[in-house]
Amino acid sequence: MNKTLAIEGGPKAFPNMTGKNQPKVGVEEFLSIAERFGFSADAMKRLRAAVTDADLGTGPHLGRYYGSAKPSRGEQFEALACEKFGVKFAQAVSSGTGALHAAMIAVGAGPGKEVICPATGFIATSMAAALVGATPIFCDVDESLQLDPTKLEALITPRTVAVVPTHHWGVVCDLAPVIAIARKHKLKVIEDCAQAPGASYKGKPVGSHGDIGCYSISSYKIIGGGEGGMFVTNDERLFDAMRQAAEAGGLWRPNRFAPERYPGELFPGTNYRMSELESAINVIQMQKLEHVVSRHRTVFRQVKSQLQNFREIRWQKSNDPAGDIGYLLRYFPQNDELGKKIATALQAEGVGSYFRGAAAGPDWHLNRDMYPLFRDNAPQNCPVAADLYNRSVGISLDQWYSPADCDAIAGAINKVHSAYCTPA
Ligand SMILES: Cc1ncc(COP(=O)(O)O)c(C=O)c1O
Repeated sequence: MNKTLAIEGGPKAFPNMTGKNQPKVGVEEFLSIAERFGFSADAMKRLRAAVTDADLGTGPHLGRYYGSAKPSRGEQFEALACEKFGVKFAQAVSSGTGALHAAMIAVGAGPGKEVICPATGFIATSMAAALVGATPIFCDVDESLQLDPTKLEALITPRTVAVVPTHHWGVVCDLAPVIAIARKHKLKVIEDCAQAPGASYKGKPVGSHGDIGCYSISSYKIIGGGEGGMFVTNDERLFDAMRQAAEAGGLWRPNRFAPERYPGELFPGTNYRMSELESAINVIQMQKLEHVVSRHRTVFRQVKSQLQNFREIRWQKSNDPAGDIGYLLRYFPQNDELGKKIATALQAEGVGSYFRGAAAGPDWHLNRDMYPLFRDNAPQNCPVAADLYNRSVGISLDQWYSPADCDAIAGAINKVHSAYCTPA
């Protein structure tokens, strides 16, 4: 070996890597995802042949670490979200809960502060407030099963910092009065849109009305291929704060290690970044959003428009029939006994339906049951939520129902109701 140091003009001891560079995530990982999605053995063979021949380059990497000439899938997903949700700023994160946690930090929720959440929804909303040390205060709901704006103002105290209208089960909350009250009291509005990406209120996407919108982008929700979430806003300072909370490594900053550009820019946070793999799936999912929502709306309207009215049945109220998604038909029979009879008879007709009933076990969609939040304290009393949530029949409507399916389902519902109820 030539002993002259390379720095003094000698040859390099390690001029090049001779091993063949393989992407960290490559053929086998890709095929394992395809397998999980249930492609046939023949399709798998063809996929393997296609991807083995192709040049995979160095594979997906964390675009946010190093930047790249081409936007990463995460950046593409966020750009699409800005377009679809009608906002200036969007950041993909690893869960809806993570998005809510970041939002709570950004609005200054913390010890000694209060955040108002609806009494029905999901525990993740109020839990995010509790996680930062704030106290969740529950506002009762109305017949839309969303936060009742007429009950909101009485709950506001000097400690309140935010209200979190939640659009759940694809139905939108009546945002206009909620936002008007929040503005009057200088509260921030965080819309929890985990169950309603693609829904709109007065013609504008949910999530773009308040100060912040938080979404869950998981396979269990309207769109999403795994676990994921997103926060959106039009306010750059709130966006910075949420990004700092959700990505404390500072990768979001133009110069990661630069000193604070304004007081309060930097503070301890965590890491809720969405991976490139998840983002790649979600770019495709996001492109399907309008079609998914439109199919749900068509099915819901075709079923609902055929339903007859009965004295013993009240339909879930809609705050914006054009804006709801409508993947769940929900209504309130006048008592437990009738509700159980209806759900059982509908199941016998072949229509998937459920009824909770007052004696049902705990459910973390109802504040009364969210005991991890209360520990030794009694939960707040929200009587309308407790009554309506348990007294509701729910029928999931598949976006892929054909017009004939919709007619048959509406026929089955009318048939069962006619047998047990009095025409209105
Ligand atoms: C209303 C609501 N908020 C927040 C979340 C949390 O979302 P994720 O499961 O993505 O953390 C959910 C999930 O079920 C939800 O329904």
